[in-house]
Amino acid sequence: MAPITLGAASRRFLSCPRFSPFLFAATHERHLSSVTSSTKGTCQQLLPTRTTFSFPSRSLILGIETSCDDTGACVMSLEGEVLGEALSTQLSARYGGVIPTFAMTWHAKKIEGVVALALERAGVGFQHLTAVAVTNRPGLKGPLIVGTDYAKYLCLKHNLPMLPVHHMAAHALTARMEKTDLKFPFLVLLVSGGHCLLALCSSLHEFTLLGETVDDSPGEALDKCARMLGLHHIPGLRDVSGGRAIEITARKSQNPRQLSVPMRQYRDCRFSFAGMKAQIYDIVRLAGLSPGEILTEEELADICAGLQGLLLKHLAERIQRGCEYLDWEDRLPSHLVVSGGVASNLAVREGLAGLAKHFNMEAVFPPPRLCTDNGVMIAWAGLEALKVNEVGVAPENVLGVEVESRCPLGSSIHEKVSEANMKCKWIKL
Ligand code: KG4
Ligand code: ZN
Repeated sequence: MAPITLGAASRRFLSCPRFSPFLFAATHERHLSSVTSSTKGTCQQLLPTRTTFSFPSRSLILGIETSCDDTGACVMSLEGEVLGEALSTQLSARYGGVIPTFAMTWHAKKIEGVVALALERAGVGFQHLTAVAVTNRPGLKGPLIVGTDYAKYLCLKHNLPMLPVHHMAAHALTARMEKTDLKFPFLVLLVSGGHCLLALCSSLHEFTLLGETVDDSPGEALDKCARMLGLHHIPGLRDVSGGRAIEITARKSQNPRQLSVPMRQYRDCRFSFAGMKAQIYDIVRLAGLSPGEILTEEELADICAGLQGLLLKHLAERIQRGCEYLDWEDRLPSHLVVSGGVASNLAVREGLAGLAKHFNMEAVFPPPRLCTDNGVMIAWAGLEALKVNEVGVAPENVLGVEVESRCPLGSSIHEKVSEANMKCKWIKL
């Protein structure tokens, strides 16, 4: 790549206080120790540090993720091998959810150290990179700005192209990382703390939306339900996400509570999770608990199992209609990918695998560690783009890359599904 001459805007950006390396909370060493020994958050070591490396210069991709409350970075080879990864997770559960301004400050403090750690674990330096992939859409605006601006800084400083990545597309594409024979098109359900959608993925950038949530995302609703139930007061559940806390608590249930499944009156593929919160609110209110008091262990287990059952049934019913609609149009794909944080729920996995089987489809679940937000999925999405000869944004143009807090994933066929007015006979899971 020819060396670039920086324009005035680029020079101003590089000297901008927010991204001067000197203004990041500390020196390189201090960052590393704050990342690895932080008491407020967790930083997972997913791979051992490499002690030797033999990569030709400019053959690796750096992926950066900061769209919500996880600061993630990954160094990946052009063959898709994860060479070094680092993830700093904010303990949002402790504060009852993600606080955007707090999340932004966290990312700003952590990003440089997380990237440095991923490089260190890979045993490489910036000179080995060929591109920087970064989530620039959709997500929380402040957190997206931190990651994208840091990527801009790196691209300008090290003369690298930028690969802007759609967060939800990255969740979907991650499935192709482990399952290398997964071909387009495939049906994908993305269920996380920020989204819920069912789409047909036909290529890297081509998604047909069958349905989305009309209100909350499932993760958001589960997090609120867990909070209302006071699961964060239970030792061992304080620092896990609400969804995970519900899954763990549900395991002890003998008699799951019957909760009503939403949206059955609408013959389409849209989702709704606000009613889930309302049902839990009523249960807690009727119990007449005083502040700080929680239900008995047995009651909590049954309610959590009921919530998990509702979640599975609702997801399964909407997917079933989607499959029947696509089958009717003679374009039912052979694979159902389920990804996003909520897809790490084992009951959901088992139930949806059974549903897929009914349609002669294979269910694909990326491993739980790749279902939640991380830098690996962003590096992978960048690699997918490079593989189809996309060149990304040239370093001299990276300042023009915008963040988009809202950005639909493809075009919607919700109206067509609804007009088809398909009545489904629910499959027993
Ligand atoms: O994809 P993700 O890590 O972050 C974004 O939202 O982008 O998803 C986080 C969500 C949280 O709301 C959390 O409660 C939920 O995923 N979650 C789960 C489980 N683990 C995480 N929900 C149900 N069961 C789980 N085991
Ligand atoms: Zn996500």
